[in-house]
Amino acid sequence: MELLALLFLSFCFLTLSGLTFGAESGSHVIVKEDDDAILSCSLNNMNIKPMLFDWRKDTERLQVFMYNNGILHNKGPPNQDKQFSGRVSHFPEELEHGNASIIIRKTKVIDSGSYTCEFPHLQPERIFHIELIVGASPLPVVRIFHNGRLQCEVRSASPEPTVEWWDSDNQRLPSEDPVVTEEGDIILKTTVTRTGLYRCVATQDSIKHQIYTETFVQLEVSDSTGWVVAGVVSVVLVGVLVCVAVLKARGYNCKKDSPRETSLF
Ligand SMILES: *[C@@H]1O[C@H](CO)[C@@H](O)[C@H](O)[C@H]1NC(C)=O
Repeated sequence: MELLALLFLSFCFLTLSGLTFGAESGSHVIVKEDDDAILSCSLNNMNIKPMLFDWRKDTERLQVFMYNNGILHNKGPPNQDKQFSGRVSHFPEELEHGNASIIIRKTKVIDSGSYTCEFPHLQPERIFHIELIVGASPLPVVRIFHNGRLQCEVRSASPEPTVEWWDSDNQRLPSEDPVVTEEGDIILKTTVTRTGLYRCVATQDSIKHQIYTETFVQLEVSDSTGWVVAGVVSVVLVGVLVCVAVLKARGYNCKKDSPRETSLF
């Protein structure tokens, strides 16, 4: 009984990670959660040391960072939103080249959004737009139940991934509709009928990221199938023995002259 349980519970568990996060592209910056993000903003070859620039986020115009002629607003309220307190700095040595870029340290998913870099005192006023996406891509967690039932769970991924089951031929498996929990976790179930390698793939198209967990599923050999397999094997064995003992003694080549046995498969 224990052996049987072992048989249909035995599986290998491998985890492999696909692509890594892409770098900045145009006015889009994509980083992995906890990494630093540089948001670029520059007035070409203009000394901006004596000027004012103001970084804001989203339509709420959250205060991210402000530089005013050497004075920094980067220590939290009242001049900086507490979300960014102590995490944002600029590049002082770059100011004389017009570079008003900032770096946000240890990014969080909620830092994702639309940023503006503004020079409100310039005529005309200059405003730059930068989109930041902070991605979180946890490994899918796979569970195997009896009778080929598989469950994949992807927790707190951002942006929301597409979750799919694939087999080792890279074919997508039919599965039940994904369940999305209140916390944004995604659960996807399927049932497989053959022993083999299967993987749960989480794809985040907008950040060109894919990650998967691969698992080997050993399906239980049912009693009747077991008997059929054992029967065929013993018939062939008996056939080969008869062939060796009888026919070879008469000068036959058993490998050529045993079509009945092989046709048993
Ligand atoms: C501004 O300076 C930072 C830090 O040296 C650099 O990463 C960024 O590329 C610069 N931006 C521009 C537009 O030159």
